[in-house]
Amino acid sequence: MPLIDQETVRKILDTADIVEVVSDFVKLRRSGANYIGLCPFHNERTPSFSVSKARGICKCFSCGKGGSPVGFIMEHEQLSYAEALKWLANKYNIEIKERELTPEERAASTERESMLALNEFALNFFERTLTDSDEGRAVGMSYFRNRGLTDAAIKRFRLGFAPEQRDALSSEALAKGYSEKLLADTGLCSRTDRGTLYDRFRGRVMFPVFTLSGKVVAFGGRTLKTSKEVAKYVNSPESVIYHKSNELYGLYQAKREIVKKNKCILVEGYMDVISMSQRGVENVVASSGTSLTEGQIALIHRFTPNVTVIYDSDAAGIKASLRGIDMLLAQGMNIKVMLLPEGDDPDSFAKSHSLEEIEEYFRQHETDFIRFKTRILLNDLADNDPVARAGVINSIARSISVIPDRVIRSEYIKECSRLMATDEEIVTLQVAKYANENAAGRKSVTDRREAAAEQPEAETVRDATVATRASGRSSVDKSAYLRPSELEVVRLMARYGLLAVAETVNADGETADYSVTDYVVNEFADDEIRLTNHDLEKVYMAVQAAAANWGGELPAIELRADEMCAQMRAEAHDSIAAAGTMDAIRRKEEELEEAVAEARKRFICDAAERYLTATLGADPDPDVRRLATSFASEKYVLSKIHTKNAHIPTEREMLIQRAPRAVNGLKIATLQWREKEMRARLASLSGQEAADALARLQEIRAVISSLARYLGERIVLPR
Ligand code: UTP
Ligand code: MN
Repeated sequence: MPLIDQETVRKILDTADIVEVVSDFVKLRRSGANYIGLCPFHNERTPSFSVSKARGICKCFSCGKGGSPVGFIMEHEQLSYAEALKWLANKYNIEIKERELTPEERAASTERESMLALNEFALNFFERTLTDSDEGRAVGMSYFRNRGLTDAAIKRFRLGFAPEQRDALSSEALAKGYSEKLLADTGLCSRTDRGTLYDRFRGRVMFPVFTLSGKVVAFGGRTLKTSKEVAKYVNSPESVIYHKSNELYGLYQAKREIVKKNKCILVEGYMDVISMSQRGVENVVASSGTSLTEGQIALIHRFTPNVTVIYDSDAAGIKASLRGIDMLLAQGMNIKVMLLPEGDDPDSFAKSHSLEEIEEYFRQHETDFIRFKTRILLNDLADNDPVARAGVINSIARSISVIPDRVIRSEYIKECSRLMATDEEIVTLQVAKYANENAAGRKSVTDRREAAAEQPEAETVRDATVATRASGRSSVDKSAYLRPSELEVVRLMARYGLLAVAETVNADGETADYSVTDYVVNEFADDEIRLTNHDLEKVYMAVQAAAANWGGELPAIELRADEMCAQMRAEAHDSIAAAGTMDAIRRKEEELEEAVAEARKRFICDAAERYLTATLGADPDPDVRRLATSFASEKYVLSKIHTKNAHIPTEREMLIQRAPRAVNGLKIATLQWREKEMRARLASLSGQEAADALARLQEIRAVISSLARYLGERIVLPR
């Protein structure tokens, strides 16, 4: 993906209008200051999708999805950050200046691009041949018809036909200027021993394989012959642009529906995907006959954590694939399994049932994977074979041990112990053993950082299983405990980070704004506070980056504010002149200047808030975008009576209290956590050690109460 320069990114973010962007996909109507429509991310009858032009964001109050223009496009079109920027640039005719590539980068990218271009050419050739040539219609099309495919499905999956003639594609491609080397590199052609080129796909119906962004990287060609001598499928070889283990057949077509249903259905073959999709079950992808890879799992995980694997009822296949599924579990995905009726595969099942029947079958037959595995293994077990039994218990424990979530793990331990009629403690110990092995394995094999991150988890397993003594708690618990306090600090920063919490006066008597961000960062530095929730910390960092850039934006905004002030004065001119006496004029002028100053300040504050929301809402990191959007879309509903009669101070006007209160709240929570830890340790201490610990505990409590006293009452300015 070519890199877009910062200036262009800025321009895109500034130009993109949330109402215009959303309107491309959602019918909006005005509702007060906002716009409202039916949420495109879930099915609903009454609109809960709200778009705020002023804040530049949209959000569904039912499912929570939404964001800045970039965020919305990423979510809706399932694009990466860079792709979404390009999408917007295209909409607004903004020219994208790409960073200068190094010579190596350029060579690599032109090679890739030429290969993709040739594949695109081949795609069109196969499609055209299917519909426009006699051979394609007589052989290819009638085959698809026989298998019950509709024109719509053929179009949607861009199916085609490769003629029998050994240079049908290559001769056309060469005539169009594509080189022999490209034909060989893409795998569209092979070479004979003597080095002459011939088409890899001959007399086959063609299934193109698309990447997430819709580029054709490979083809699968199915023979129409029944002879056992010919391979049923011929596939493109691995190449610079095609890594089989990183693609999933049908994902490009299925991604939007996967997000909408929050579920991905996994089948084996091309035909399974197409038949299901044609029947209306569109969230289906295929692993193309091989077992799943981690890369493919990561692809699915971008869209949903929920996967249902469909099996034909032939038992051999099921057992072989059980191990592959542990990998899905290890990625924290929720796996369900569904067996089809005897003799059916997804293709035949979809063809012989209505959509309603299929959905009903899902409702009744989808089973949780671990339960499914337990049952299958138990079924095979001969009565009273203790060794085989132990094998089953171990195998199940191994599956459970890879699940990242501790709570889910313990639920499974309970349930499976019951199913296997085994002592829960035994299963617990086995799971803990495997969990530790997993962690150790990860550490020695590859990514050390990842292993380090997993470490506390492994410890909690040991804690929970080996002993329940009140030993040291994990950092996982700590960050959960501190989360509400950290969230409040980060929320204030993400919304009001660029606004002044107070004015500072320097030695020369000049005043300067002390921003919420500066305040929090200084406080954190003074007390060596670090956020323990990783996602919140990312927002914290992003706010600081935005604050650093804000200075560059400010002059232009001040200029616009000044224009507005000039206009206010001009408009007030007549009424001031009409006031009559000199005194009245002076009074009116003072009032006006007050109002102008107030309006100017509000104008700049509004711009600052919007800038921060837009910048965070377009951050490359999805966690940052998600949190920023949820902060910005909080609704403060004031009752009509209040807003009419009295001025209720907004949160923005209360920053001088809110910010210190939030920071103090976090400090107190941190100390309280330490207090809890100390207390737990105290139980196992005695003599001098216990006395020392007690003294420290009292110190901690004293600091807590002194902090609590100042809660929200004062703000310490930097020296
Ligand atoms: P299937 O044999 O189930 O194929 O293999 P299918 O797609 O259902 O085809 P039909 O229904 O017989 O027409 C499942 C998948 O395994 C891969 C293909 O991706 C296929 O879709 N496969 C199978 C190969 O790559 N090569 C083969 O020779 C066979
Ligand atoms: Mn099949």
